[in-house]
Amino acid sequence: MPSRPLPPAELIRRVGWDIHSRSLAEVYEQRGRDQWEFTCSLLPADWTFAGKRVLDFGCGVGRMLRNGPERDPAGEYWGCDIDSRSIAWLSEHLAPPLHVFEAPDLPPTSLPDGHFDLIYAFSVFTHLSDSWSAWLLELHRLLKADGILILTVFGPGCSSHMGIPLDGDHVGMNVFAPYTEWDGGGPLIFHSEWWLRAHWGRAFEITELRPGDPAGPPPLFGQSAVVMRKRPVTLSIEELERPEPDEPREFRALRANVASLSTELRWHTVYIKSRSWRLTAPLRAVGRRLRGVLRGPAPR
Ligand SMILES: C[S@@+](CC[C@H](N)C(=O)[O-])C[C@H]1O[C@@H](n2cnc3c(N)ncnc32)[C@H](O)[C@@H]1O
Repeated sequence: MPSRPLPPAELIRRVGWDIHSRSLAEVYEQRGRDQWEFTCSLLPADWTFAGKRVLDFGCGVGRMLRNGPERDPAGEYWGCDIDSRSIAWLSEHLAPPLHVFEAPDLPPTSLPDGHFDLIYAFSVFTHLSDSWSAWLLELHRLLKADGILILTVFGPGCSSHMGIPLDGDHVGMNVFAPYTEWDGGGPLIFHSEWWLRAHWGRAFEITELRPGDPAGPPPLFGQSAVVMRKRPVTLSIEELERPEPDEPREFRALRANVASLSTELRWHTVYIKSRSWRLTAPLRAVGRRLRGVLRGPAPR
């Protein structure tokens, strides 16, 4: 197999999970292959990539997408991300065969309606706190009438996060760490199955929801996968976000989310703003640098 270029370490680290491996090459190459194969396993039995146009929404530095042209060159493979450094690296090293573009923070993109046969987003809606509805509608617009959308989520299958119970009765779409930047992984979103069926189900028919296993191995690390077909509807952001009528779990989930955000805020106020936290900041910086040294240089 021809040797393939490896992106700079910081671009691999920002798409996550290097804490589970000491090898950036493994995080990029093996995980990317696993993610690609897992996504293909969710496609219909008679699916082929020949003549199909595919979008990897939030492709990062392309660890999944680059498997497409290698495995099945008869397809057309597109990727987008808000991270200009990742898109610049992909443009220089992998386009062509890939088609890549920088996505705006909020839609629309400049692509025409019905442009794609398949859109997938791996570990993206797990972090979209405010713009999820606008992007879900944009992906709906970009899909062909018979197109397939595959998104991963955290939630179904999980019962707690950092000691906070996350049963389906108290989770709708709950947001943790809303202040986290994308380079730090972004906010963390938990979805429950009933909420996904109620809200995403307005725009898409959910044909499969494969629940995650909280102790699960790579490439999912506990995420679930939602496979969807486009419904022939035109919806607004408000219509997608509006609470499900007569659904008491909407209110319970909101209350639970306010409670968990208050706990985070208390933690933030007590520790981050405290004198001892500020005084020990240099030590933590040294620790971070040391961990980077122990992990070793980026493999080439
Ligand atoms: C956890 S990373 C996963 C990256 C990639 N899917 C992978 O598995 O390697 C989430 C990615 O979503 C990207 N992202 C966030 N908001 C986006 C948006 N509005 N449009 C496109 N990409 C976005 C982030 O920049 C980041 O690269």
